[in-house]
Amino acid sequence: MIKVENIRKRFGFKDVLCGVDFEVCNGETIVIIGSSGVGKSILLKNIAGLVKPDTGSVKIDAVDIVKCSPLELRETQKKIGYVFQEAALFDFLDIFDNVAFGLRTLTSLDEEEIKQRVVHCLSMVGLENIEHLKPSVLSGGMKKRVGLARAIAYQPKYILYDEPTTGLDPIMSDVISNLIINLKERLNITSIVVTHDMKSACKIADRIIMLYKGNIIFSGTPKETQNSKNEYVRQFVEGSSHGPILIDR
Ligand SMILES: Nc1ncnc2c1ncn2[C@@H]1O[C@H](COP(=O)(O)OP(=O)(O)OP(=O)(O)O)[C@@H](O)[C@H]1O
Ligand SMILES: [Mg+2]
Repeated sequence: MIKVENIRKRFGFKDVLCGVDFEVCNGETIVIIGSSGVGKSILLKNIAGLVKPDTGSVKIDAVDIVKCSPLELRETQKKIGYVFQEAALFDFLDIFDNVAFGLRTLTSLDEEEIKQRVVHCLSMVGLENIEHLKPSVLSGGMKKRVGLARAIAYQPKYILYDEPTTGLDPIMSDVISNLIINLKERLNITSIVVTHDMKSACKIADRIIMLYKGNIIFSGTPKETQNSKNEYVRQFVEGSSHGPILIDR
């Protein structure tokens, strides 16, 4: 399981995370919502060990990745797939090698098995016959889906998705939502998903948490989120420019 305890992160004079606590049980899908710039991506990067918090701990299967040795951190990171907000593909590699990257470095599959897995994962995100292309010729939505294929290819225990449906058309967004559900049901993958897409959030989440001013101000099921009387949650769910969130800016 993932246990985040009292994480604080400051950049310059800005306190981005001010003591964030939450747990994700095995097989659970947690969705993180919150305004742009509130610290969702930084929180995910802290959980993946890509950014170190100033204080607090992040336990992945009981290993505190904030305090552990670099070797333990690397071993623990092998359990985590990460879908970056900006896709973050390797520009100098073609799509095949991008998706195969984790398979070659983290598994003992042979080239034929890798080929089958790459083609299968690309087809799961609706992409075919693009293996030979370089990332620079793909559309934004296609890059995003290659990033997804890369993260799921080696079937990590945990997947952290940073806005997996942003920039995708509504039909493809639903394909990706179904893919996240499918991975949970078939492989018991535990996920943390950052998204602004409330339709997707309500479809995939066991629990939705909302980040505001460095803290978690709400946690509930999709139904509780949609019916919440919390005025911050309500404003976000309704996508209204009127409410306390705007006043605070
Ligand atoms: N390396 C860094 N140095 C300085 N400030 C940073 C750094 N990384 C993030 N920040 C700041 O931390 C805050 C939170 O950034 P973050 O990317 O986590 O936002 P977000 O909630 O993911 O927003 P969005 O929904 O737009 O992606 C922002 O004010 C950002 O400028
Ligand atoms: Mg972000």
